[in-house]
Amino acid sequence: MADSRVNSARILGSDLHLELTRAGSRRTALMAALREAIRDGRLAPDTRLPPYRSLAADLGIARNTVADAYAELITEGWLTARQGSGTRVAPRPASPPPRRRAPGPERGGPPTGATGGRRGPRPAPYPVHNLLPGQPDAASFPRTAWLASARRALTAAPHEAFGPGDPRGRPELRRALADYLARVRGVRTDPGRIVVCAGFAHAVRLLSDTRLLRPRMAVESYGPAFHRSLLRSAGIRTVPLPLDADGALTEGLADLDGVRAALLTPAHQFPTGGPLRPGRRAAAVAWARESGGLVLEDDYDGEFRYDRRPVGAVQGLDPDRVLYLGSVSESLSPALRLGWMVLPDHLVDGLLAAKGEHEGWTGVLDQLTLADFIESGGYDRHVRRMRQHYGRRRDRLVAALAEHAPHVRVAGIAAGLHAVLELPPGTERSALRAAARQRLALDGLGGYRHPDATTPHRDGLVVGYAAPPEHSFTEALDALCRALPPGRTAT
Ligand SMILES: Cc1ncc(COP(=O)(O)O)c(C=O)c1O
Repeated sequence: MADSRVNSARILGSDLHLELTRAGSRRTALMAALREAIRDGRLAPDTRLPPYRSLAADLGIARNTVADAYAELITEGWLTARQGSGTRVAPRPASPPPRRRAPGPERGGPPTGATGGRRGPRPAPYPVHNLLPGQPDAASFPRTAWLASARRALTAAPHEAFGPGDPRGRPELRRALADYLARVRGVRTDPGRIVVCAGFAHAVRLLSDTRLLRPRMAVESYGPAFHRSLLRSAGIRTVPLPLDADGALTEGLADLDGVRAALLTPAHQFPTGGPLRPGRRAAAVAWARESGGLVLEDDYDGEFRYDRRPVGAVQGLDPDRVLYLGSVSESLSPALRLGWMVLPDHLVDGLLAAKGEHEGWTGVLDQLTLADFIESGGYDRHVRRMRQHYGRRRDRLVAALAEHAPHVRVAGIAAGLHAVLELPPGTERSALRAAARQRLALDGLGGYRHPDATTPHRDGLVVGYAAPPEHSFTEALDALCRALPPGRTAT
């Protein structure tokens, strides 16, 4: 039987996390998922469901399928439809009838209340709007163009592509990346120095298996805790480099004992947002040359710059001292698990030894498809389209804040898929609690701070604006504005 799973986790804007995992037709699976959400209380009575077209686009199914599912659930009493008011979750009855047993996914009658008639504590509020950083708009994955590339790539693939692979990755992809990265990011490389991997996190794991990052490694004083914990679990101690408006204070690298590598996000500091200024770039490279050290350049969103021409890669300054890391996680999808390392020549063999011959990690079809996608111009077109899309979202975020929270400063908006909202001192925790009550998933700046950082903590929220489905973005912004601390009133 064909696998009936559709990409599992999807946020349905107004109120729902849907998983179309049930076997059978898409209509049946959608109906089951909606019934379940209503029964759970995740879709509260009177919640307006998204229009057919939006939900169909979000789930990658036909519009008629959604229309049929809604119609049938109206007949069953789960939903109601009124002219001009859209399709809504049916109101709960005044007093829920006693129930002998909880209904199974397909057997249950219409809902009996927000908790579906269950006894026991109410479930914790479920986030409705996803404003977490580092996530692209999943509904904008270029399905048609990707499929066309996959077809072409599979048709053209030589037989040997299906044999044991080169541990560096497919040559087609490494060639395409070498050209693309040189053209768009100013990276200096040839295909022989590129190693394909399963994204940035995989690259960090592989590099941790070499001696390159030991015993201690400098990281920016704000950065993903996940990356620090990957390094920690490999026995590598991280040392925070202070940050200011010009990026990490790389001039201080020489003063850090036992540090042989520095991880930086030069194009767009994650998460605070600025580029590493030219003097600081030069200082990082000078330190690496003089000390025999290595700069790891995490170029996670380098293509998404809105206000100026892209800031080129530091790697172009010295390909022997800067190891460049990129992935499709923000440009296409984190689910592809596809990334690349551009290595200094003298490090290729050691890295391949760490990678090993037998553990591939990245499937050949995705590699060949990405190679075609880049070479056919599909990747450029997609990035250009998404840059406009995300640029519009960024403008809407800035406009909403200017209108409803003019006292909150927005930083880091010249690039990327997230912004930092600078909050008055001491208000970050209460803003996060207010956000949870508004059922918003977002991060506070504090969670990114290195535990040993010496610079004073800045209260702030890190707001990703790419992930919410289009139909619920305005609602997400409204909820965000409601969660922000009030401005001081003049006395
Ligand atoms: C700072 C940073 N680096 C790298 C990545 C990419 O990580 P990965 O390629 O492991 O998905 C992200 C997320 O997209 C990120 O936020």
